Amino acid sequence: MVQMPLQHDQNQKKRDDYYATVIDSVGDGVIVVGSNGKITLCNPAAEQIIGFSQRQAQGAAFDELFALETTLIEMLGKTMRTGITISDHENVVVRSTGRVTPVAVTCYPLVEGSGENIGAILTLKDITYIRDLEAAVRQADRLSTLGALAAGLAHEVKNPLGGIKGAAQLLEREFPPDSDMLEYTRVVIRETERIDHIIRELLELASPRALQRAPVNLHMVLGDILLLQKQAASDRNITFVQHLDPSIPELIADEALLTRLFLNLICNALDAMEDDGRLTVSSRVLADYRMTQDQQRSRFVAIEVADDGPGIPQEDLENIWTPFFSTKSGGTGLGLAICHKIVAEHRGMIKAESDPAHGTKFTVLLPLVR
Ligand SMILES: Nc1ncnc2c1ncn2[C@@H]1O[C@H](COP(=O)(O)OP(=O)(O)O)[C@@H](O)[C@H]1O
Ligand SMILES: [Mg+2]
Repeated sequence: MVQMPLQHDQNQKKRDDYYATVIDSVGDGVIVVGSNGKITLCNPAAEQIIGFSQRQAQGAAFDELFALETTLIEMLGKTMRTGITISDHENVVVRSTGRVTPVAVTCYPLVEGSGENIGAILTLKDITYIRDLEAAVRQADRLSTLGALAAGLAHEVKNPLGGIKGAAQLLEREFPPDSDMLEYTRVVIRETERIDHIIRELLELASPRALQRAPVNLHMVLGDILLLQKQAASDRNITFVQHLDPSIPELIADEALLTRLFLNLICNALDAMEDDGRLTVSSRVLADYRMTQDQQRSRFVAIEVADDGPGIPQEDLENIWTPFFSTKSGGTGLGLAICHKIVAEHRGMIKAESDPAHGTKFTVLLPLVR
């Protein structure tokens, strides 16, 4: 049977549509260039990367559209001349409308059935996330090197420091009670104690350790801390409020570390508050909470430590977790970094919210391992 021309056209159009859909569906950018150097095809993924619409790109001269990207122009020229496939996964960036996108590019020759070279196909793969990952790994590497260095230094300083303190304590006994020297010696002792405190915190932050996991009654931990802090702050007029959910089961956690965590948060709150302030500690169970999209649902306890202090300025909020960030004259700036580490070791999450009108609230989420 002889096919009708109309039918033939329709079939051809269907096929063209089909091929167009295939190329449009490819997640990587695809740009096809004819032997005259003009772009004949450009899919939506390529549009995203190069910042030109299909309409602008199609029919435009490749060299003009990509005038800034000499690497791309060279790759294309070489493939066109030699018919060789060329890849570059390292050096290519595409600059468009103020954005620089790192891309992995492969340039394939476009060869007809007869063997004639009729152009080239470029595939562009956006590798921004790979570069981000590489940067994150480098940062983590640097931090662990710094951590090891800090831990080494801290160990080295500890012993001579012990010597200084011991000697100063001996001197303290030698001077009569009314001597000026006594006051100086006490300054030495006090300051060595301060250094010792910084070093202990630094070691805690820098050295790896295994968690001593056991069943922990969270409310006993919080209750003990609050009892002690109430006594310590008895000369202030602070209101301590507890909203503890009695249904919280025991956590499998490191009790000493959790104590450290909440003590740090509560001490920070007390440092920030006025003498007639109000400190609220509350806890509740979050059923079926998912911290990230891909994580399985599980149960968490949320513990909040909220104060009505002056709050944390917006620009400081992201720095408070950084070691040595402190706005206090005697602060080490290591407390929250340690809190962050303790929470991460327990596979939990910690966040800070603050606004000058209401104060600051730290929320700790800890998984209930059952
Ligand atoms: N409850 C809070 N209210 C206001 N500021 C806070 C609070 N908690 C922490 N901060 C801020 O975060 C900084 C870092 O805290 P931290 O790491 O514990 O170090 P440090 O207490 O030694 O200064 C503090 O110096 C303070 O500026
Ligand atoms: Mg602190």
